Amino acid sequence: MRFAIVKNAKELAERAFLEIKKVLDEKSDAVIGFATGSTPIPLYDKMADDHKRNGTSYKDVRAFNLDEYVGVDPGDKASFARFMQDRLFSRIDIDPANTDIPNGMAEDLSAECERYSAAVKEHPADIQILGIGANGHIAFNEPYTKPEEPTHIALLTARTRADNAAAFKDPSLVPQYALTMGIDEILTAKRILLLAMGENKAQAIYDMVMGRDDTSCPAAALRRHPDVTVVLDREAAGLLTFGEWERAAEEREARQAAERAEEELEANESDEAADGETAEAAADEASEADEDAAEEDVDADGAESEDGEDGEEADTSEADDDEAENGEDAADEEADEQDDDADASEEK
Ligand code: PGA
Repeated sequence: MRFAIVKNAKELAERAFLEIKKVLDEKSDAVIGFATGSTPIPLYDKMADDHKRNGTSYKDVRAFNLDEYVGVDPGDKASFARFMQDRLFSRIDIDPANTDIPNGMAEDLSAECERYSAAVKEHPADIQILGIGANGHIAFNEPYTKPEEPTHIALLTARTRADNAAAFKDPSLVPQYALTMGIDEILTAKRILLLAMGENKAQAIYDMVMGRDDTSCPAAALRRHPDVTVVLDREAAGLLTFGEWERAAEEREARQAAERAEEELEANESDEAADGETAEAAADEASEADEDAAEEDVDADGAESEDGEDGEEADTSEADDDEAENGEDAADEEADEQDDDADASEEK
């Protein structure tokens, strides 16, 4: 999992667009998995703007969307079909015949799920854009969904319905059910690009990266995927422990500097003639310590931003594993607490 931490929505869009452009440059007839929700809107604006200015073409691109409400007409402003049309497809040169989204108005919803599963299987995404729910859902795979479940009818949680109420005139009009691509189907994408902004996503991001390795946080399944880029603002990254790694690296450096200073002092205090060797050994040790400190810096600070902009990046694949293991007990406890919290808030 690679992380890019950005300052704002504009940077998020620019950073995310780099990933899309990379795919399109490699393959003009790429399959792109699209997501709806407020988070990818700046990316879609950026894609439309780039299409207008630079002529990046989508005419051979095939598009699949993750999910759709049951019982909402594709022409309805609250539908995800309409969202994609208004926010992106009508602004680029994609062929409407190459766009697909589950049909939540299908008479036979199970047959529609089967159709969609088969289509996704036939055209695995070259890149899948994802948002994340405050409860860790990806697409409408709510907590405790079995990853192997293919495209299916999902019962939306109260929290998800409340989070998605803005598109509806009345919160009570948010559908109870949606059709959603399954988790393992999402994981068939060659690359995954997950975007998240805001403090209300911080817990979900933490659970995705460091939480329990079970289905309580559906996004945690992304740990199994070899090519995931996560673009986050500082608020969404707020509970991750990049800061702890940085602090630990700084502390190690300070400790080593103090040890070096002590060794130098001892060397100076000793008899100069007899001390020649000791000083040399201390100098060797000090330079080894320097090298160690330099390595730790790379781990803690991560790779440079590819686009040379201000975003910070960190490839945490190894660190994730270690931290996830070390933090398992604490994470379990925390998760239990969260469960309690979630229960409490749902009851309200
Ligand atoms: P959001 O939704 O981008 O509107 O926050 C993300 C999601 O629920 O997957």
